[in-house]
Amino acid sequence: MRIYVTQPLPEPSLGDLLEGATIEVGESGIGEDQLIGRVSEVDAILSTPPVPITARVLSAAPRVRIVANCAVGTDNIDLAACRDRGVVVTNTPGVLTEATADLAFALILAVTRRLHEGEALVRSGTWTGWKPLELLGVSLEGKVLGIYGAGRIGSAVARRAVAFGMTVFTVVAEDGPERFEELLRCSDVLTIHVPLTPETRGRFGDAELGRMKPGSFLVNTARGPIVDEAALVGALESGRLRGAGLDVFQHEPKVHPGLLSRPDVVLLPHLGSATEEVRLSMARMACEEIARLFRGEPANNRVA
Ligand code: GLV
Repeated sequence: MRIYVTQPLPEPSLGDLLEGATIEVGESGIGEDQLIGRVSEVDAILSTPPVPITARVLSAAPRVRIVANCAVGTDNIDLAACRDRGVVVTNTPGVLTEATADLAFALILAVTRRLHEGEALVRSGTWTGWKPLELLGVSLEGKVLGIYGAGRIGSAVARRAVAFGMTVFTVVAEDGPERFEELLRCSDVLTIHVPLTPETRGRFGDAELGRMKPGSFLVNTARGPIVDEAALVGALESGRLRGAGLDVFQHEPKVHPGLLSRPDVVLLPHLGSATEEVRLSMARMACEEIARLFRGEPANNRVA
């Protein structure tokens, strides 16, 4: 069995669960064109979120029977093209729920309490000591946390919010427009936890950001293209939004220059699931799916 793995993974995973297979591991930053040259002989692809598994890639990989994504989101994969070719697609739900909810909450705290600005001040060597008016943020207690998406991660964020004394208002992508409007209107902090789909792409554009509660904060640890970054810069510039915390970007790994220069924005490099424990579990789950398929067993987490 030949397997192409799009980026290096934590071990023990490949060497342990796929022992005996011929494995080629790509390097970070590999794109569609490079991938096409490397998959012509492989039986399985173990993919990672930034690497697009498109219909072109699948056409160049006639032997492939499974794409095992080392992520819960599968928006990097053309699921319809996989279905058409009878290629199984799997993902890694569950194991990353708490770590991603932790990171969302870390961003909520960072942006409302201005942690990045405080850290920069101390490092600059110009801090002169405690002042009653220095870097005042906003308390979470008694505020409304709007959660867009009530799946595993959204629900885990809701539990944390309750412990911080917040009121939770949850909306799912399928809810009608009134509830979405209420989410925009009432959230002091709005955090996004829906998958990227044709319905959620660009869901937060000029109009929606312009109807958010004045002085509120937006946090996104789901997928970048759900938020229009140019519109977000506009909403921050106008003062409609007071800050934003982003772990994902519209054109990842590029970040809108208008965000890079703003002190009211906290930017992280897609770290939602990035703990040693979770990334190892994700890698092992993806390897296990490939091993199962070639043993003739059904997938644990099949999405196509
Ligand atoms: C990471 O972004 C994932 O979807 O697991």
